[in-house]
Amino acid sequence: MAIRTIREIGDDILTKKCKVVKEMTPRLQTLIDDMFETMAAAQGVGLAAPQVGILKRICVIDDYEHEQKYVLINPEITETEGEQIGQEGCLSVPGKAGDVKRPMKVTVEAFDREMKKFTLTGEGLLARAICHETDHLDGELYVDKTIDGIYDVMPPEEEEEEE
Ligand code: NI
Repeated sequence: MAIRTIREIGDDILTKKCKVVKEMTPRLQTLIDDMFETMAAAQGVGLAAPQVGILKRICVIDDYEHEQKYVLINPEITETEGEQIGQEGCLSVPGKAGDVKRPMKVTVEAFDREMKKFTLTGEGLLARAICHETDHLDGELYVDKTIDGIYDVMPPEEEEEEE
């Protein structure tokens, strides 16, 4: 496994629509492993393939509230319910955050790394992460969906140092 370079806002690749995954390959398995490792190293809640420069419909999510990790391949949101307004950040927009309105509950259909179809329903943080990551696959960033724009936040390391 390897940590890959995270592309940052301003990089054209983040605005492109990703391609559907038609079959699993050893190369894509390595990509998924690397995405989990890259997300963990960056202390992120989610990471989408275009953020590491690959235009495929694959994203990973760390639902730390429930200690569950997911890979979603070709995800399609099939149902949404309610709404929540909350702070959102992105590993491709370091040091920034913004408030975004998302559904409170989201159901997504996707394929796992064995290309078996599954359905996942998430509420709160997980619902937000599913929306944010599937947006990446369509070349959309949260910064264009904020209520009041983006603002500075301290990276996790610096917060710890101040205690
Ligand atoms: Ni993001």
